[in-house]
Amino acid sequence: MTQIARSLKMDGRKIVFVPTMGYLHEGHLSLVREGKKRGDTLVVSIYVNPAQFNEQCDYEDYPVNLDRDKELLEAEGCRILFLPSSESMYPSGFETTVHVSGLSKGMCGDSRPGHFSGVATVVAKLFNIVQPDIAIFGEKDYQQLALIRRMVSDLDFNIEIVGMPIVRESDGLAMSSRNARLSEDERMLSLSLSRALYSAMKIFEEGSCDAQRIIEGARGKIAGGIEIDYIDIRDAATLKPVDKVEGDALLAIAARVGKTRLIDNTILRRN
Ligand code: PAJ
Repeated sequence: MTQIARSLKMDGRKIVFVPTMGYLHEGHLSLVREGKKRGDTLVVSIYVNPAQFNEQCDYEDYPVNLDRDKELLEAEGCRILFLPSSESMYPSGFETTVHVSGLSKGMCGDSRPGHFSGVATVVAKLFNIVQPDIAIFGEKDYQQLALIRRMVSDLDFNIEIVGMPIVRESDGLAMSSRNARLSEDERMLSLSLSRALYSAMKIFEEGSCDAQRIIEGARGKIAGGIEIDYIDIRDAATLKPVDKVEGDALLAIAARVGKTRLIDNTILRRN
């Protein structure tokens, strides 16, 4: 990959990069399509990064279907798929981590200790290997996107970071590779996450700015049997907690449905 990146650069090609953990769905493919539009060489990576899993069973159960992923990428016209091995990413003696301190705290950072350092470290490594001009991420993982923007700015990566909107199933469930692990009943229950966001958004649109009230509105819509991890409202740019929604705010939710942890979010914005 390093050699390919070097020769692409020498040819003056603009490299666009979409990092993923595979088991691709329309959410990933929306990033791939955007990538095709923005540059002349698209690189997609698939790597289930052990360093970002804080639960061993979540890592072991992470869905994998490389043959299908390759077919989907080929159909989108993606010509370069980077599949690093753990031996090459984390050889013995590896001991460096990238830690984005503030943005790794709160929300998913609190419930998944070490997760965001694992993400920042692997993304920094992938950036150094792939040498992209542009990298594309989804707003589904909003905190991850904010943290990567911070890292790119703080560590002087010369890379434009593009964020893309959440792609949903027709019934509103945010697409996720982890949805494949839901039973039929759990899939039904999971719908209450996006419904909770919509109903909280309605409370906001009807005029309430009170973060707690909006959060409680969302909480009230979460189906019994779902274990809420957090429902939070944060400043959309800094991710600092807010009591009153004045500028753009992120309304984010994380919950466990059976063994599967799901996240979703939306932006609260006054028109
Ligand atoms: P993964 O969960 O495979 O997601 C890869 C990219 O797809 C991320 O940028 C994510 O935000 C985006 N994505 C996932 N579901 C989406 C949806 N429904 N709509 C829009 N975009 C969506 O995120 C990771 O992998 C990893 O943490 C990674 C960045 C690859 C580092 O290991």
